[in-house]
Amino acid sequence: MLKRSHMCGELRAEHIGQSVTLNGWVNTFRDQGKGLVFIDLRDREGMTQVVFDLEDADEKVVEEAKGLRREDVVAVRGVVQKRVAGPNPKLATGEIEVMVSELEVLNKTEKPPILPDEHEAEKIAEEVRLRHRYIDLRRPRMQGILRTRHEVNRIARDYFSSHGFLEVETPCLIKTTPEGARDFIVPSRIYPGKWYALPQSPQIFKQILMVAGCDRYMQIVRCFRDEDPRADRQAEFSQIDLELSFVDRDDVMKIISGFAQRVWKEIRGVDIGEIPVMSYKEAMERYGIDRPDLRFGLEITDISDLAAKTEFRVFSEALGKETGVVKAMLVPGGAEKMSRKVTDGYNEFVKTFKAGGAPTVKYTDNGYETGIAKFVGPIEDELKQRLGLEKGDIVFFTADTWDIATKSMGELRNRVARDLDLIDQSLWKFVWVVDFPMFEYDEEAKRWVALHHPFTAPMPEEVERLESDPGGCVSAAYDLVCNGSEIAGGSIRMHRPEIQQKVFKLLGIGEAEAELKFGFLLKALRYGAPPHGGIAFGLDRLIMLLAGTENIREVIAFPKTLNGVDLMTEAPGPVDAAQLEELHVQVTASEGALVEDA
Ligand code: AMO
Repeated sequence: MLKRSHMCGELRAEHIGQSVTLNGWVNTFRDQGKGLVFIDLRDREGMTQVVFDLEDADEKVVEEAKGLRREDVVAVRGVVQKRVAGPNPKLATGEIEVMVSELEVLNKTEKPPILPDEHEAEKIAEEVRLRHRYIDLRRPRMQGILRTRHEVNRIARDYFSSHGFLEVETPCLIKTTPEGARDFIVPSRIYPGKWYALPQSPQIFKQILMVAGCDRYMQIVRCFRDEDPRADRQAEFSQIDLELSFVDRDDVMKIISGFAQRVWKEIRGVDIGEIPVMSYKEAMERYGIDRPDLRFGLEITDISDLAAKTEFRVFSEALGKETGVVKAMLVPGGAEKMSRKVTDGYNEFVKTFKAGGAPTVKYTDNGYETGIAKFVGPIEDELKQRLGLEKGDIVFFTADTWDIATKSMGELRNRVARDLDLIDQSLWKFVWVVDFPMFEYDEEAKRWVALHHPFTAPMPEEVERLESDPGGCVSAAYDLVCNGSEIAGGSIRMHRPEIQQKVFKLLGIGEAEAELKFGFLLKALRYGAPPHGGIAFGLDRLIMLLAGTENIREVIAFPKTLNGVDLMTEAPGPVDAAQLEELHVQVTASEGALVEDA
């Protein structure tokens, strides 16, 4: 085989006159009928135009060159020359071309079902591309994403290693994990009726590594959560997982900020600067969400006190509820931009977040407009002042319990920003969100649930509250948010078993259950556990941001569809009956589960 001397993205004017060999795929093929055949030869690094002079070349070369088709795999040898037709600014190698003297067809392709072409890709259904992922991944954009992912992993290993972290692998066949999602489980052949679980995260193992004196741990690790996939969620995803001993919240945040700064600098050439810190309460009050997108304004304001002065029944009913509030969001210039149809749409939109609706007022040359305008009369001036309301603006209201009014307004804020194109896509807005509540009350289950996970410690000064006021207890958790996406989350843990047990009790995890599920952790905590804390980056989400995509499947080499299927390998698939028997498992469900049914 003709072995390459250069990659296809490498040749420049300085190589003119050199004899080179390239290996790659035929990206395009043009026979211009003037005795010349042009192909763009492509590999991972780029593309080079190679030219066959049919009049001059060896007969065999001519014959084979004429038969070339897109995606054939070839080797060519020839001399680099200045591009006769003038430079092509679209290609990095656009100043040159290679005049071919030797051609070796390494593999003819069958007619490809798709082509790795960016324009084509947009038109081809994602399912078709995923089924033929080996071709789809040849696209320059996908190659770029694979590389970004590799670079982030490289930076992580380098950065954390230089900060004293050791990479340790934790097991995939484990007992069960506490992240709160459904486990994937694996039957044990050796122990009939017993099951392993796949880790939702290495949470307990990394804590145990701290007890084991590892001091600083990192791992680029696969996590498994049996949840329905979404645009930014896969059942199988990756974390850059970290844990540190003898640290407090600020120590962890400092090291992690340094990592984010380095990644953005190296990958995007951007200085993200100091990352600001915001409390959970402030994030919720101003942005209605615990992962605020700070690339645009549209801040939310509590106007409960003003709303109490109106006769509007929706407001008074909301304020009559426990924790009832009225929230307002001003959209500058929105009065004209938003037709009745649009605001009606938003009214329906907030209903999906349990709000009753989102009444509006428009402030125009004619004064206040829309249905609830008459109620605004008594608070007109105060409202104007509080919101900075000017002519041409529109105000949306939500009125309900704090939870519903706040969160539905937060969703509306993001939606309006997107619809009005208010988001400057060139910005990177990072923020640490801290001071989360330890617990949330689950109204349906009538019990407290951990907002983060059950190993998160309260802030040191909040420990007393675990008993006196669990709802008000502030945790030592922290989330790193970028452009409205939660890219990392972690906390300082409980290293003292008695406090850990107290929290389990509050969460309704009885002693027996705690012992059964997490006994090994409780036991380890009794044998000299250092104070420790950690965090995990969602690697896929990090890459999504860096690659500028909202589709998590773009950043994973072999992802699953929204239905949880790997279309290329057709997993999940049937197994044969003998295999199940060996595992002591019986299928009671549907057809197609066994090889002979399929
Ligand atoms: P958490 O559950 O917050 O914390 O996960 C950490 C980060 O992982 C990403 N992430 C996901 N990405 C893609 N698909 C999913 N299904 C998915 N679920 C989570 C998010 C999130 O910020 N053990 C703790 C970490 C710790 O406390 O140290 C944990 O797993 O970006």
